[in-house]
Amino acid sequence: MAEYNLAVIPGDGVGPEVIAEGRRVLEAIAASDAGLNFTYTQFPWGSDYYRETGLLMPEDGLQQLRAFDAILFGAVGDPNIPDHITLNGLLLPMRRYFDQGVCIRPSYLYPGVKSPLEGKKAGEIDLVIIRENTEGEYAPVGGRLYPGTPHEIVIQSNVFTRRGTERIIRAAFEYCVRRNKRNKVTSVTKSNAQAFGMVFWDEVFQEVAEEYPQIETESLLVDRACMDLVRWPEAFDVMVASNLFADILSDIAAVVTGSMGLAPSANINPEREYPSMFEPVHGAAFDITGKGIANPLATISAVAMMLDHLGEPDAAKRVDGAVSQCLNQRRVLTPDIGGSATTTQVGDEVLRLLGEGGPLTAEGPERALSRLRAKFDVVPDDVSLVDELIEERRQQARKEGGE
Ligand code: IPM
Ligand code: MN
Repeated sequence: MAEYNLAVIPGDGVGPEVIAEGRRVLEAIAASDAGLNFTYTQFPWGSDYYRETGLLMPEDGLQQLRAFDAILFGAVGDPNIPDHITLNGLLLPMRRYFDQGVCIRPSYLYPGVKSPLEGKKAGEIDLVIIRENTEGEYAPVGGRLYPGTPHEIVIQSNVFTRRGTERIIRAAFEYCVRRNKRNKVTSVTKSNAQAFGMVFWDEVFQEVAEEYPQIETESLLVDRACMDLVRWPEAFDVMVASNLFADILSDIAAVVTGSMGLAPSANINPEREYPSMFEPVHGAAFDITGKGIANPLATISAVAMMLDHLGEPDAAKRVDGAVSQCLNQRRVLTPDIGGSATTTQVGDEVLRLLGEGGPLTAEGPERALSRLRAKFDVVPDDVSLVDELIEERRQQARKEGGE
């Protein structure tokens, strides 16, 4: 029996609301699979903890997390505490000290979800942003000299190491090979303006690309990439970019595929020396905190990514399938995607779908669609029609066979 020790940090804002649903999904998976068990250690860290202790997590917080198999994280941030304090006190140190250099952010336009862009069909937008996660523009290197005076000097440095840059670019190619969709990697920089770090990145991209001759490559400036993500997001497959650029790109990608409420993020330590961390991209969302309407599906998708990382791909697919079905049937959805259900009701629905199982939920939308594309000339936009179409073709074949 596989048993995984999970650290759970619900954190601030809507974090506890969505993490509760993520945990229920894990419990349902464990209950339905005798070979799988999870233990949870929940940590009360975040802004309330800071108000009590002056720290976002205890001084030995990172050591406490070190031995877990993975970390499930909600959000951190508080309207009354500056963001650079909350984020540099909890989220960013985890990414850095656990060397989670590879951040994976998929964006998929699910059947049943409407893109704000006109005419985009389900499955058409299907891209993954591979974000450098420990250095670049987020490196806490810099300082302020003579603060508040007319000759104040402020320096904020970008840090690009060969190890970090090669690692993220190689991770993008590897991901692209494994994904085997459009076999294209787009690197995003700003080397026309930033002649050191970004030119270096472009060079490393060229070097690593040579190892993957079967993969199409493209290098875009970040301003152009932002524009293209809006006007033709379907042109992208795997995108790789520095910490800040990929942060911005991943918000655009999330919103063109329907909602920030659907976007998961995996912060991976590829060497598996430290725990990796899984979180929704949306953050604390003070505007809806406590209203019970936060979309739990981003967290539930992050749970699926965690299961996959832990080596439980079948469980991951079941969870992905339930998310996809929940969206596709459009019966129980939160307001961000046009529904009126609560966070818990969506969680209930995902649990119900998980319990129901069935061929489609076990398979997941991507697999179902690609299986279908391989078989038929016409592919429905709506995954719920997949089984119907197969049945129709089956009957037709039977008729033709004179049965
Ligand atoms: C994200 C968030 C964080 C980031 C913030 C909260 C520091 O926006 O995970 O995308 O920029 O990495
Ligand atoms: Mn962000």
